[in-house]
Amino acid sequence: MSPGPRAPGPVLAAFGLLLARLSSSSAVPDVPGFAALFGTKTRYQEVNPNPSADPSVLRPPPGERCVPVHVTAVVRHGTRYPTSRNIRRILELSELLTGGRRDPGGAGGQRDPGGAGGQRDPGEAGRLIRDRWECWYTEDMDGQLVPQGRAELRQLARRLAALFPALLSEHNVRKRSVSFVTSSKHRCVSSVEAFQEGLHQHWGRHGAPDYAHRVDDELMRFFERCRGYVEGVETNRTALLEVEKFRHGDEMEAVRRRVAEKLGVAPQRLTPDLVETAFFLCSYELSIRSVHSPWCLLFEERDAQVLEFLSDLQQYWKRSHGHAITGLSSCPLFHHVFRTLDKAGRPRRSTDPPPEPASILVGHGETLLPLLALLGLYKDQTPPTASNYHSQHGRQFRSSRIVPYAANLLLVLFDCQRGPRLQLLLNEAPVRFPGLAEDAPLYRDVRAAYRHLLDGCDSRTECEVRPGARGPSTEL
Ligand SMILES: *[C@@H]1O[C@H](CO)[C@@H](O)[C@H](O)[C@H]1NC(C)=O
Repeated sequence: MSPGPRAPGPVLAAFGLLLARLSSSSAVPDVPGFAALFGTKTRYQEVNPNPSADPSVLRPPPGERCVPVHVTAVVRHGTRYPTSRNIRRILELSELLTGGRRDPGGAGGQRDPGGAGGQRDPGEAGRLIRDRWECWYTEDMDGQLVPQGRAELRQLARRLAALFPALLSEHNVRKRSVSFVTSSKHRCVSSVEAFQEGLHQHWGRHGAPDYAHRVDDELMRFFERCRGYVEGVETNRTALLEVEKFRHGDEMEAVRRRVAEKLGVAPQRLTPDLVETAFFLCSYELSIRSVHSPWCLLFEERDAQVLEFLSDLQQYWKRSHGHAITGLSSCPLFHHVFRTLDKAGRPRRSTDPPPEPASILVGHGETLLPLLALLGLYKDQTPPTASNYHSQHGRQFRSSRIVPYAANLLLVLFDCQRGPRLQLLLNEAPVRFPGLAEDAPLYRDVRAAYRHLLDGCDSRTECEVRPGARGPSTEL
């Protein structure tokens, strides 16, 4: 099937139809109940429903006089179109359905009397998708930031400017003492621009700001430059075995059967990849167009939980604690952040140039997850595996909550009576450093906790280690 027009007509029509059906019952749910389980495709508002520039999130010890002197923000780009790889899968999935419309009964190939092959009668969801949904995705959309994503970054910038008025001030930005660094990907460059638009709006300025940023993939896309990581993990099937096992395991098999039934296709034609694609479609239509898509009707809460776990397994083993080299690949960014903090916290003579008040670093989920892993955050006692889904309901490692669109890690340095203090916030909520008891511990205690990394964590040696020479870091 050729990709449909971009006009929202058919989707909205399906939505209208859906509304008409649902409004016979009392409340019309405008978002699926599982919208907070979309992993890295989760909307920021699911994680932080009422973001506000509330200064009570800044937590230096009460009674100690402190002023923020620097903020570093590591920010993920906002909501985007699917990447071309996912768009190709979307086209494949939509072809599977329309193929059946043209050739009812025969598309499945196998014509076994038991009815295991071919098209079946779709359920309500399958009918809505076939009749009312038109595929509007085209490959050229490839991961670009969407208007909603621009808005997320503008709003984040406005809140941060309100929270740190003396740091993200117009004066500081104009005299270029705030640095803006981004990954070279267009969704990130667009995000850093949207961030600057947000600041501009916050100061009550009209028109376009004087955009200024520096592209630095060594910092923001370190993951593709670390050979030990690329060969040892990213492209190594063995390293991602738990993900593959779960993808083809019992829990996913049950989801696949239920979804195939609702879609009216033979289960064997709906690969686990296509089940994920259908789930992503539900997420894309919500995040990009704020539409409760008929694709969402294919899933129940229990299915969404299984798919969330699959996504967490993937992030855990590919982008986080699963293998030590993944965290270590972020050493360049780790050192950059701490060098900036060191400078900002150092006592100065009045003749020294003032330190950088803020550093805005825009990248990817793949930028944030390894850095958080290196810092030791969100590490559960038991790693998630293909066989422990049922004991992982209380896990800390939830990619939906950690890296939604526009996810952000803030490192806020305070000048306090007893010396500098550092606070971490993830998605604008305080997070503690592992092993440190305060929200904003003394900076020297943070440095002591990460001493081994500050003195080492050399990506040249870590990344060039012969893959396989290092054991996996898991407790398995
Ligand atoms: C792939 O991953 C496995 C498991 O972590 C590891 O033992 C093996 O050495 C890796 N292979 C390569 C080529 O890095």
